[in-house]
Amino acid sequence: MEEKYIDKIKEFSYGKTYTVLTMGCQLNENDGEKISGMLECAGYTKTSDLSKADVIVFNTCCVRENAEDKLFGKLGEVKKYKEQKGTIIAIGGCMMQEEHIVKKIKTSYPFVDVIFGTHTLQNFLKDLYNAIIENKKIEDILDIDGEVIEGLPVAREDKIKASVSIMNGCNNFCTYCIVPYVRGRERSRNPQDIYDEVLLLAKKGYKEITLLGQNVNSYLVSERAKNKDLSYKVEKENGEKEEVYSFATLLRLLNSIEGIERIRFISPHPKDFTTDVIEAIRDCKKVCKLIHLPLQSGSTEVLKAMNRKYTKENFLSLVEKIQKEIPDIEFSTDIIVGFPGETEEDFTNTLDVVSKVKFEQIYMFIYSRRVGTVADKMENQIPEEIKHSRFNRLKELAEKIIAEKNTEYVGKVIDILVEGKSKTNDNMYTGRTETNKVVNFEGTDENIGKIVKVKIVSEHMWYLKGKII
Ligand code: SAH
Ligand code: SF4
Ligand code: F3S
Repeated sequence: MEEKYIDKIKEFSYGKTYTVLTMGCQLNENDGEKISGMLECAGYTKTSDLSKADVIVFNTCCVRENAEDKLFGKLGEVKKYKEQKGTIIAIGGCMMQEEHIVKKIKTSYPFVDVIFGTHTLQNFLKDLYNAIIENKKIEDILDIDGEVIEGLPVAREDKIKASVSIMNGCNNFCTYCIVPYVRGRERSRNPQDIYDEVLLLAKKGYKEITLLGQNVNSYLVSERAKNKDLSYKVEKENGEKEEVYSFATLLRLLNSIEGIERIRFISPHPKDFTTDVIEAIRDCKKVCKLIHLPLQSGSTEVLKAMNRKYTKENFLSLVEKIQKEIPDIEFSTDIIVGFPGETEEDFTNTLDVVSKVKFEQIYMFIYSRRVGTVADKMENQIPEEIKHSRFNRLKELAEKIIAEKNTEYVGKVIDILVEGKSKTNDNMYTGRTETNKVVNFEGTDENIGKIVKVKIVSEHMWYLKGKII
């Protein structure tokens, strides 16, 4: 980030406000917190009232069509603010890496002041300054992979849980997915920078971190492909040095940071789930015993067409191997229904894996065609009504399993990390189990940010009710 723009913008930002509208995944949220951080450094304060904001930033996602629709809906709304009071409108994020979208914005929404991409986040204040002072329309997009940028200020939404990105980009090119095109190739952050960031979070009182990457278990793999002996000696707070050369060693390093109580990560790719990672999860007390393991489909044929590089059997034996090593482990997953060519038999295989693994949570998606991907050109696209009916059948099974699993919690005493007051009931507080289940209980402000023991007294599909003991 070019520091000089902080002072330049401060000359006119006093009393001015901003809104960042984040529309995508946790990586996108993490970028959004950096955009907010830069704006706050430059003197803006946050508002959630779009009509009052002096700067509105759209932080976009394009992974599915409905994420795109969200942007165009909102742009119509902010046009009137632009006309009434000259609000500065900026759009960034993954969608801006798509040429046809940028073209559409420039022709249909010419009032947009700044368009920036995923590799130019660090230029944001410079772009904003030029748009405001020189009254220019700015387009700042690179289609080559940007460097890993360190040191951007972050204005975090939460005071207990924080996300920490460990790598950018993706090399996998699953045939349905736009992410590798808009985020570029895999680039890992230096483990010392990650350690320092997590240490600072711990000192600020954060209790839970989620490590982010499109494929976290290939952390440092691309770098080691170029230099097979690559290894970092990370200097810890106590002066000791610890060696990091993989995702497993990174988990072990972060597990040693005092104050952090829980470590999560999303997402690992089943094809890269090596034994050392399983052992690290087993050994590290703070690493939550819930693994998000994206299945996408339970059919070996569909997985092949998706370019996922594992079969139904590989996935099931990986689950078994992990369960053997870590008996109390639970899984969550992502599933796509209606991928081109998916037959009834293929779909039945997905249901079969779901019944066998009994996931704690399933994020279900209807396949969405993305321009530029291989699957978009496949001829055997599935009709909408079949996609929807399969989606509903999967949802029914998932809910049945969740309900069954919920009843197993009743009567148990479990640790939950208390996140705050319940939004709907003033006496109630809310927290999460290690397996990410919401637990509501009667508590006090004292409990917030702490791990407390509760006895689960009842289950209610999307949350459990507990009693503090
Ligand atoms: N890198 C992560 C996921 C990134 S996108 C991983 O590999 O697990 C998050 C989820 O969106 C994916 O897991 C997939 O289930 C879903 N998704 C991606 N592209 C999609 C598309 N074109 N249509 C529907 N769902 C999609
Ligand atoms: Fe997309 Fe596959 Fe990469 Fe995940 S691993 S971001 S689904 S291409
Ligand atoms: Fe995330 Fe959407 Fe981009 S899922 S990486 S914000 S395309």
